[in-house]
Amino acid sequence: MPTVVIANLKSTSIRFEDKGENLLEMLLSATDWMHACGKKGRCTSCRAKILQGAGDLSPLSKTEKQFLELNKLQKDERLTCQTQVYGDVRVEVPKPTQLPHLEYSE
Ligand code: FES
Repeated sequence: MPTVVIANLKSTSIRFEDKGENLLEMLLSATDWMHACGKKGRCTSCRAKILQGAGDLSPLSKTEKQFLELNKLQKDERLTCQTQVYGDVRVEVPKPTQLPHLEYSE
């Protein structure tokens, strides 16, 4: 069963059965995760750093490419609200989008 692991949040592990599920929805099923624009691809607050498994994610969306060009998204980051998951992935919450009420290891 494919798994998404949040490395810097106590290695929280989310298992899923259906390939192609939205990454943000999966993360929200296990923890709080910033998503200021309401999953519309406008804010970048939902971004995740992808540590492993980038090849098991959907291709970059048009919105993500635009944020990359504007340097508002790093090459190893994805907008979770724009990304579908097809296999094992290991992510990290970037420092600027960490929530104050959660305890991160980095
Ligand atoms: S929630 Fe705003 S870009 Fe994903």
